[in-house]
Amino acid sequence: MASYVAGIDFGTSNSSTAITNGGVPRLVDVENGRNTIPTALYFPEKSSEVFYGRTAQQKYVDSETGGRFMRSMKRILGTPLMDSSTQINGHMVKFDDIIGAFVSYMKQKIDASANENVESVVMGRPVHFRDNDPAADDKAQQELKRIARKAGFKNVCFQYEPIAAAFAHEQKINSEKLACVIDIGGGTSDFTAIRLSPENRNKADRTKDVLANTGVRIGGNDFDKNLSLNAFMPVLGMGTDYKVYGKVLSIPNSIYINLSTWNQVNDVYNYKTLNLVKGYQTWALEPEKLARLYQVVQNRLGHINLNYVEKTKIALSKDLSIESILDFLSDKPSIYITREEFNNSISNDVEKIEKFLSECILQAGVKNEDIDLVILTGGSTEVPRVSEIATKFFPNAEVSAGDKLSSVGMGLAYDARRIFL
Ligand SMILES: Nc1ncnc2c1ncn2[C@@H]1O[C@H](COP(=O)(O)OP(=O)(O)OP(=O)(O)O)[C@@H](O)[C@H]1O
Ligand SMILES: [Mg+2]
Repeated sequence: MASYVAGIDFGTSNSSTAITNGGVPRLVDVENGRNTIPTALYFPEKSSEVFYGRTAQQKYVDSETGGRFMRSMKRILGTPLMDSSTQINGHMVKFDDIIGAFVSYMKQKIDASANENVESVVMGRPVHFRDNDPAADDKAQQELKRIARKAGFKNVCFQYEPIAAAFAHEQKINSEKLACVIDIGGGTSDFTAIRLSPENRNKADRTKDVLANTGVRIGGNDFDKNLSLNAFMPVLGMGTDYKVYGKVLSIPNSIYINLSTWNQVNDVYNYKTLNLVKGYQTWALEPEKLARLYQVVQNRLGHINLNYVEKTKIALSKDLSIESILDFLSDKPSIYITREEFNNSISNDVEKIEKFLSECILQAGVKNEDIDLVILTGGSTEVPRVSEIATKFFPNAEVSAGDKLSSVGMGLAYDARRIFL
């Protein structure tokens, strides 16, 4: 019997992995019977323990002493930050090692499921980790490769995430299709135009079937950011003024931007920012709003706020409006927002997504009318304004939208079987 090989979808928001030793791949239990795990880590204060996924999220929310919570680490790959360290419980830790801890956790789950040391893996990657920067793109892939090797994989290959999603879907079709994959996750939007057919499934070389790939660094994290800045941060004083020596000035936006960006929230937790906010509160024209900001910075409530933002966004995929009560603040302010307001807040992002999708079809040399299958994958394709794109662009296509959070992991394992077995 052949050894097991794996595919890992290391996602900005969620990760999954599947393994195979020659047969149909199976998804690995990565967290208490679940086959996806939030890409999150929690380092409790004064402890060397590390928690992952939902457990990390829960422990962080329950903790009274703080500690360090991290999400969306994938966004750091390929940036200069990868070469620096961050303070965790008084120690300087490299981002490399933080992502490494998460990939090692996935490797342990893989090995436990395979009951052997799995040495070969296909890792997913977005079409672009960074926009318009091929050198940074290469750097990001090299960093991820180095991390996977350090975690114990001897053979590491890469595949574009949307192509993997297409391979997973190809198992289900019974006739040839000209397909377009729209994969919109937490950090990136990726598109592939690809020929799928039952006969092609076992072909060793699929390069000719892939007609085009495009991608842009926009995802659900950006939707959260826009929603936070438009609806949540004004409650904390964004857009208000302070008056000093008779001069009226605006409270600067930088703290609000950090608080609205998943991988920058921790940057506001320091005495300098706390004192700054105290100062603004003294001079603010609407001090009750700055008092809320002070609470958020002092009690490290930024990630909790972003959880509320994300929940509000997800609720707006189903409901036309929602009231969100910020009960983590002492005066429990409430925010009312409609889907239309949310749609307006993400309109620039959606425009860019449409531009890169058009570019993919153009590069593929086909017409929108020729596409007969659209594969929607990635959690952010649940946003109605985003899923509408499929029908708007491709009038003759059947739209498929199953297994949004695990299809990439499955497809990567199919690719691992093709490459390694
Ligand atoms: N019902 C929903 N409505 C709106 N957004 C949703 C919904 N469900 C999940 N999301 C969003 O989908 C994103 C996560 O999707 P997914 O798990 O596919 O991303 P990822 O694979 O981790 O990211 P990437 O592929 O960009 O690295 C998050 O931003 C999440 O808020
Ligand atoms: Mg993804």
